[in-house]
Amino acid sequence: MRTQVVIIGSGPAGLLLGQLLHKSGIDTIILEQKPKDYVLGRIRAGVLEQGTVALIEEAGAGVRLRHEGLIHDGTEIEFGGIRHRIDFKGLTGKSVIIYGQTEVTRDLMDVREACGAPTVYEALDVGIHDIESESPSVRWSADGKKFAIDCDYVVGCDGFHGVSRQTIPATRLQTYERAYPFGWLGILVEKPPVSEELIYVNHERGFALCSMRSRTRSRYYLQCPIEEHAEDWTDDRFWEELTRRLDPQAVSKLQTGPSIEKSLAPLRSFVAEPMRFGRLFLAGDAAHIVPPTGAKGLNLAASDVGILSRALIERYKTNSDAGLDSYSQRALARIWKAERFSWQMTQLLHLVPDASGFDRKLQVAGLEYLFKSTAAQTALAENYVGLPY
Ligand code: FAD
Ligand code: DHB
Repeated sequence: MRTQVVIIGSGPAGLLLGQLLHKSGIDTIILEQKPKDYVLGRIRAGVLEQGTVALIEEAGAGVRLRHEGLIHDGTEIEFGGIRHRIDFKGLTGKSVIIYGQTEVTRDLMDVREACGAPTVYEALDVGIHDIESESPSVRWSADGKKFAIDCDYVVGCDGFHGVSRQTIPATRLQTYERAYPFGWLGILVEKPPVSEELIYVNHERGFALCSMRSRTRSRYYLQCPIEEHAEDWTDDRFWEELTRRLDPQAVSKLQTGPSIEKSLAPLRSFVAEPMRFGRLFLAGDAAHIVPPTGAKGLNLAASDVGILSRALIERYKTNSDAGLDSYSQRALARIWKAERFSWQMTQLLHLVPDASGFDRKLQVAGLEYLFKSTAAQTALAENYVGLPY
């Protein structure tokens, strides 16, 4: 078997790359280790930048997003029980769109299936070979049989725990990491959201976030110690704790109900450099992780793929390696700015267990400055709606 580009992983990065390349006549195969339903069942991000939406539309998967996505022109940040609005649209001219990662994934899978491009689900023991040569190959097993395919390029879109980054010798990769001593416990519920816009809450008991997936489906998060287990949180316990962290008006609007999904996500900052080794390129969570506070994870995966798809198209159309050679540097310039923003939002909004009195005073000063200064609000808004590619 032979193809032009082998993509490992059918998360948003892999699927979006597959469609952008397909639109330019480049053949791909996607190898995904999990079953399709498992990939579709993972509840993750919900906030899309306009640049991400533009790429999804370019990939031909934007029809439902255009109809069902909720346009948000701002967000609210609550401190000391008082909400302050950050006016994205007024400050930057841009908005964000609320549309779940599950839906993005489903739409991209549908267009991929409709155009007949191949995806192998439950591809196990994926191995990348001869990546420093002109003709790499990828091997895997499925249904007890072994398979191999030759290609021009391999793109690792296989997330933080994937095989692609691990294929690169440790001596050729520089990694940067920060772990946080808390996680986000998330709950999805078939009830209308408490407010038109998202509410990020800094509370003395810990951070909380009121988000949504649609006008009838809400997503809530609570900061909790990393040692906790989602199974130990009954729905009642979750609602009780959320109620303690919200202002009275939000509590009066809160509609509780049985959770459709409940999970605990650790918070981590991570970057691996460079994002290329021979003919292997990394994109999305395979190369970097941000804590979710800035809603950047999925959007960074999309911007990587936007830059890489153009570079690969240029390579096949004009035989120039220029775009591929500058991919890592260009992508990392944007990634580090999103890392900084996500870290800053995390510091600003969470109860940091080992924070000194000095740290806490700095946090309060940061919040008070934000609420008073149009310049600070503009900086937050500019980063939240997405920096240019
Ligand atoms: P992924 O979505 O992780 O996709 C990688 C794919 O590769 C997966 O389908 C995986 O099964 C597959 N794979 C892995 N290893 C192999 C292998 N060896 N062979 C073949 N396939 C493989 N971001 C936000 O902005 N907001 C959030 O609320 C938020 N919540 C999150 C909650 C969790 C639990 C996690 C893990 C992430 C969350 N994120 C959130 C981050 C966001 O979802 C990711 O940044 C985004 O999914 C990145 O997309 P990706 O395609 O790079 O990676
Ligand atoms: C959601 C997740 C985020 O990390 C965030 O900052 C905003 C919203 C969400 O899942 O809805």
